[in-house]
Amino acid sequence: MGFPDIRMRRLRGSCGMRRLVRENAVSVDDLVYPLFVCPGEGVKKPIVSMDGCFHFSPDMIAGEVKEIAALGIGAVLLFGVAEKKDETGSEAWSDNGAVQEAIRQIKKAAGEMVVMTDVCLCGYTESGHCGLVKGGKVDNDSSCEMLAKVALSHAKAGADVVCPSDMMDGRVGYIRKALDGGGFSDVAIMAYSAKYASAFYGPFRDIADSSPQFGDRRSYQMDPANADEALREIELDVEEGADIVMVKPALAYMDIVRRAKEKFDCPIAVYNVSGEYMMVKAAAAAGVLDGDETMMEILCGFKRAGAKIIITYFAKEAAKLLSS
Ligand code: PBG
Repeated sequence: MGFPDIRMRRLRGSCGMRRLVRENAVSVDDLVYPLFVCPGEGVKKPIVSMDGCFHFSPDMIAGEVKEIAALGIGAVLLFGVAEKKDETGSEAWSDNGAVQEAIRQIKKAAGEMVVMTDVCLCGYTESGHCGLVKGGKVDNDSSCEMLAKVALSHAKAGADVVCPSDMMDGRVGYIRKALDGGGFSDVAIMAYSAKYASAFYGPFRDIADSSPQFGDRRSYQMDPANADEALREIELDVEEGADIVMVKPALAYMDIVRRAKEKFDCPIAVYNVSGEYMMVKAAAAAGVLDGDETMMEILCGFKRAGAKIIITYFAKEAAKLLSS
């Protein structure tokens, strides 16, 4: 049977009908808001490359997090920058580091908020690479040992979820072992499993002051041309103990999200990265796109592709729209 017996437009004729047959929806429950923590006191500094984003010192973060909680958003993802970078990125695992202090402040101000932390060295190493450099190369296994220390220090400060974004081999296993050994078997791991070497991170590099001082990240982040390899990466992270797996960036990699959803049973997260956010902002500012409608269409697209968790700089705006 086909046309004229079947008419697809019957189910699109009214708002009520469309609501009834709508297959996917974004909920505020799905949203994670990234926050940038810097050393110092009394700092709330706008980030020039990212509309509406700020650097907060740990003492200023509680106010922001209360606002986020009031919007119904249940999770934040913290990024740090070092006061002083060094060869091993040692500030990244200092118990008195800005991120560690911010975690404690957030837990005091909004105990229910799920605190996720980015676990990486690129904001802390002189080289700007996500791991340790040995003989002009990013060394895998020694980097994993450092990353495990970072994750453990975040857990000690009270983080609920640690999120390695470095793309070293085996780091999820190292981190799981360190957490369990330290008495933090209840701290979860959200792994940046399929993280691509992407031009869409452009605005973020300004935020974290973390551009590599030599070379690029292609020896550890994935080649944007590859898809089967992403599924192997995800599979390995799940085997090593990842509780949530992430695909990053999001928009140009929806096929990976869909394939991961079909193959794995754990929750899948997407990271709607800085360049994806700023493309919409720039187009809206130029009067080329409707910012709100474009944002909601993109966020719903992530759900349709199979993501449960959406990490996005749009979280606050989306939460406001969803409750209006
Ligand atoms: C650090 C890191 C990056 C992002 C998150 N963690 C930058 C990079 O890998 O170059 C990008 C986030 C964004 O662009 O929004 N490893």
